[in-house]
Amino acid sequence: MSELPTVSLRARTPDDLDVLFSIAADLATWEERNPSAPAPLTRERFDARLAAPGNTSEDTVNFVVDVDGVAVGSASLFGYDSFAHHAEVGISLVREARGRSIGTAAIVQLVEFGFVRRNLRRIHLQAIASNAGAIRAYEKAGFVIEGRQRQHAWVRGTYEDIVVMGILRSEPTLAS
Ligand SMILES: CC(C)(COP(=O)(O)OP(=O)(O)OC[C@H]1O[C@@H](n2cnc3c(N)ncnc32)[C@H](O)[C@@H]1OP(=O)(O)O)[C@@H](O)C(=O)NCCC(=O)NCCS
Repeated sequence: MSELPTVSLRARTPDDLDVLFSIAADLATWEERNPSAPAPLTRERFDARLAAPGNTSEDTVNFVVDVDGVAVGSASLFGYDSFAHHAEVGISLVREARGRSIGTAAIVQLVEFGFVRRNLRRIHLQAIASNAGAIRAYEKAGFVIEGRQRQHAWVRGTYEDIVVMGILRSEPTLAS
C-alpha cells in the first residue's frame, strides 16, 4: 500500500462547526453515517446534539480530522464497555476529502488511540454492505469482517445487509 497522507486528529474548535454541520446534515450519506431516521437536520438541533450530555461524557471521544490545518471530517469512539474493554468507531469526511486515503489514516490513528490511550482490547463498527469504500478503508486499517446482519437496514429504497467489523488489540494494524 502506498504511504498514508499526513492527518491529525485533534479537538473540535468553534471554527470547525460549519464543516461538521455540513457533514452531519448531508442527507446523501445519512444511512451510511448513523442509524437514526433520515430527516433534514437544522443547525439548532445539531448544536443541541453537540451539547448533549452523551457527547461530553468521558466515554465518548470526538476528534476532528485535520489535513494541513483544515477540518475535513470527524472521527469518534463511543459506546464504551468498561468491563469488556471495547468501543465502537465512527468516521465521516467531507465529500472532497474522500478517496485519498485520509479516512484510512484517520482510522489507524483512532484505533491506536483506543488501544494505547484508552486501554481498549477490541474496537468494532457496523457498515452498510454497499459502502464498499468504508469497508475497504477499515480493512486496510486492520479490521476484519466478523459477520452480517441480513437485510437489516432500509437504505434509500432497498433493504441492505449490515456488515459487522472488528479489530483486536492483539492483531496487526497499519500503526504497528
Ligand atoms: C468511509 C470514509 C471515512 C473512508 O475514507 P476515505 O478517505 O474515503 O477512504 P480511503 O481513501 O482511505 O480508502 C477507501 C478505499 O476504498 C476503495 N473504494 C472506494 N470506493 C469503492 C467502491 N465503490 N468499491 C470498492 N472499493 C472502493 C478505494 O479505492 C480505497 O481503497 P484503495 O486504497 O485500496 O484503493 C469516507 O469515504 C466517508 O466519509 N464516507 C461517507 C461517510 C461514511 O460512509 N462513513 C463510514 C460509515 S461506516
